[in-house]
Amino acid sequence: MNGARRPVILDCDPGLDDAVAILLACASPALEVRGITVVAGNQTLPKVLDNCLRLLSYAGLGQVPVAAGCAAPLLRPLRVAAEVHGESGLGGAQLPPTDLQPQPRHAVDFIAELLRTSVEPVTLIPTAPMTNIALLLQLHPELKPHIREIVFMGGAAGAGNVTPSAEFNAYTDPEALRIVLRSGLPITMVGLDVTHRALVTRAQRERIRGLGGRIAALVADLLDFYDVHGRARHGEGAPLHDPVAVAQVIQPGIVATRPAVVDVECHGELTVGRTVVDFHGVTGLAANVQVGVDVQAEQFIELVVEALRQYP
Ligand code: RIB
Ligand code: CA
Repeated sequence: MNGARRPVILDCDPGLDDAVAILLACASPALEVRGITVVAGNQTLPKVLDNCLRLLSYAGLGQVPVAAGCAAPLLRPLRVAAEVHGESGLGGAQLPPTDLQPQPRHAVDFIAELLRTSVEPVTLIPTAPMTNIALLLQLHPELKPHIREIVFMGGAAGAGNVTPSAEFNAYTDPEALRIVLRSGLPITMVGLDVTHRALVTRAQRERIRGLGGRIAALVADLLDFYDVHGRARHGEGAPLHDPVAVAQVIQPGIVATRPAVVDVECHGELTVGRTVVDFHGVTGLAANVQVGVDVQAEQFIELVVEALRQYP
C-alpha cells in the first residue's frame, strides 16, 4: 500500500448516522471523498440535501461536491423515518443555514461523470435506499469497470428493523437493491447483523462530547437524540449503522464477512424488503455478495473518535 488515498463516493440520506458516516469518511487519511450524493430515505430529498450541505459547511468541508438524486423510490411511495431521525432528519441539531449549493446535475449524472473521469476505479459507499445507484447502473452499464466495489449499509441475514423481515434501506426500495445485487459488481453488505453490534453507549457518547470542539459536541447531540429510539430497542445504546460501512472501506476486515448468495424479496406481504441470504449454497448459485457477520466494535468506535478529533 503506497499510502494513496482510496477514492470513494458516498450516497446517503442524512440522517443521524449518515452524518457521522460523512464526518468519518471526510476525516480519514485513507479515503479521498470525490463527492457525496443524497437520496430520499430517512427524510425527503429537500431535507436530506439541506442537512448534507449544512453539515459540510459547519464542519469546514464545503469543498466536497454534493449532488441531489431521486426524490422517491423506483416504484414505491416514500416512507420517511421521522420517528428515528426527527422531522428535520437531523434531530437534536440546529445547524446554521449555509449558502453552499449542490451540483447543477442529478446525482446519477454527477456520479457517472466522476466515474468516467477517474484515473482509477472508485468505491461506492451507499448508506441509504439504493435508488440512485440502481439508476446509475441501469443508465450507465458501461461504467461498471470504473466501480471498484460497492460497500453498502443495508439488509440483514437475520431480522429486520422497519418490519420483522426487512431493514429500512432495503425495505424502502427493494427493486433498486435487487438491481444492485444482480449487477455482477463486487459487493459487500454491511447489514443489521453487524451494525447491531456497533452500539454507541451513553459512556461513549459522553467520551465523544468530552473531546471538545463543536463537531464532537454536534455528534454527541445527534447521538443523544438517536439514543432515545435506539435504547428502546437495544437497551444499552443505539446502533451506529452507516459509519460501519465507511469503516470497512477505511480498514478492510474491521467487518468480518462471508460469501453468500443474496437477493431481496420484492413481493411478499410480510417479507417485502427482506434480504434473503444463502450462506450454504442451497440455491446452487454463485455467491454475489460478501456479507458482514461481525465487527470489531471497539476498534470501530476508536476510528469514529479519532476522526472526530480532526475537527474543530
Ligand atoms: O436501517 C438503518 C439504515 O436506515 C441507516 O442507513 C439509517 O440511516 C437508515 O437510512
Ligand atoms: Ca442512512
